[in-house]
Amino acid sequence: MAYKYNCLNPIANIGLDNFSSDYVKTDDVNEADAILVRSAAMHDMELSDKLLAVARAGAGVNNIPLDKCAEKGIVVFNTPGANANAVKELVLAGMLIASRDIVGGIEWVKSDATDENIAKVAEKEKKKFAGTEILGKKLGIIGLGAIGVKVANAAMSLGMDVYGYDPYLSVKAAWSLESGVHHVSDVNDIYKQCDFITIHVPLMDATKGMINKEAIDQMKEGVIILNFARDLLADEQAVLDGIAAGKIRKYVSDFANPTTAGKEGVILLPHLGASTAEAEDNCAVMAVDEIQNFLENGNIINSVNYPNVDSGVCQTAGRITICHKNLANMITKFTALFGDQGINISNMVNKSKGDYAYTLIDVDSPANDDIIAKLNAIDDVIRVRVIK
Ligand SMILES: NC(=O)c1ccc[n+]([C@@H]2O[C@H](COP(=O)([O-])OP(=O)(O)OC[C@H]3O[C@@H](n4cnc5c(N)ncnc54)[C@H](O)[C@@H]3O)[C@@H](O)[C@H]2O)c1
Repeated sequence: MAYKYNCLNPIANIGLDNFSSDYVKTDDVNEADAILVRSAAMHDMELSDKLLAVARAGAGVNNIPLDKCAEKGIVVFNTPGANANAVKELVLAGMLIASRDIVGGIEWVKSDATDENIAKVAEKEKKKFAGTEILGKKLGIIGLGAIGVKVANAAMSLGMDVYGYDPYLSVKAAWSLESGVHHVSDVNDIYKQCDFITIHVPLMDATKGMINKEAIDQMKEGVIILNFARDLLADEQAVLDGIAAGKIRKYVSDFANPTTAGKEGVILLPHLGASTAEAEDNCAVMAVDEIQNFLENGNIINSVNYPNVDSGVCQTAGRITICHKNLANMITKFTALFGDQGINISNMVNKSKGDYAYTLIDVDSPANDDIIAKLNAIDDVIRVRVIK
């Protein structure tokens, strides 16, 4: 079977090259089984009935109408963690440029570039740009997900004393963390003890403004705060007040905005965290894998609007997948149809995410047109696919 995919934005070839010969690229979005997208706005797009999947090569999905897609049985994927190393490396750079006045030093050299005696003058001027080292300093990490874990492990190998706080720590993250990372169960301990504090949590109601006056008041004199997650996680006016009061030595943020741009004590970047060739390649490879696995096997890995379901490659005579509303009695209705025809279900997974659910059924003999028609006719069934 040939599948068609459309790219709404340029997607790295290293990913697209992984599509097997069963896949054809199309410029007509209306005939695509799958769309790959980066930042293109999809909210006002007409979504064709043929479209089965949207894969965002990146993490943020606010350019994609998730509910509208779910309502039509279109599974939306993203690529969590694919840019984690890129962000980790910039966080390390952020710690270093906050500790030593590297930027001030570079600016000074530029300003004195035509001076024939620059080497001599530099020796006199350099004390202005002196700083401190990160070795042995306490680093507090709030959020130990894909990025936080990498920052923790890298900081350990640089000789820092690392403290991590994440009340929802995943098993995968726990396995990946270096054993020397101190587990902190109260975020206030991070605020009170650490010389550097870096935040790596998603922006949600619960995390918005978490670096606020109350948090800053508890911090050590001369603390360096790094924010490579989202600017709204910090009350940035409170941060500026902390800088003015001499409490905060530097605020390093990846989110240039009018509140912080050009302000004393702030090191601001134009959202460069994931801007590396490698991160874009990783995202493209992951997005293509997710689409192929979904189209060919019906598996859902890293979806943001449907639950994750992974049953591997189908080993039985048939596999059917059903996108449906997350309501009572749906499974009974599905299984009854197979039972009525004497078809044995050898494997079944049903999972839900919010208002939507996904059921994957492996059967010992192929499902016939009659069963598929009856599944489609059940109220609140959104889409039925015969995978095999
Ligand atoms: N600067 C950039 O270019 C860039 C790039 C990628 C991601 N990001 C940002 O970084 C954030 C983290 O990315 P990630 O890939 O590590 O995400 P992730 O989902 O892998 O990790 C987030 C972690 O935060 C934890 N968490 C949630 N609420 C928390 C709370 N209240 N306190 C402590 N921990 C909490 C979760 O348990 C999870 O482990 C993203 O949400 C995104 O906003 C920025």
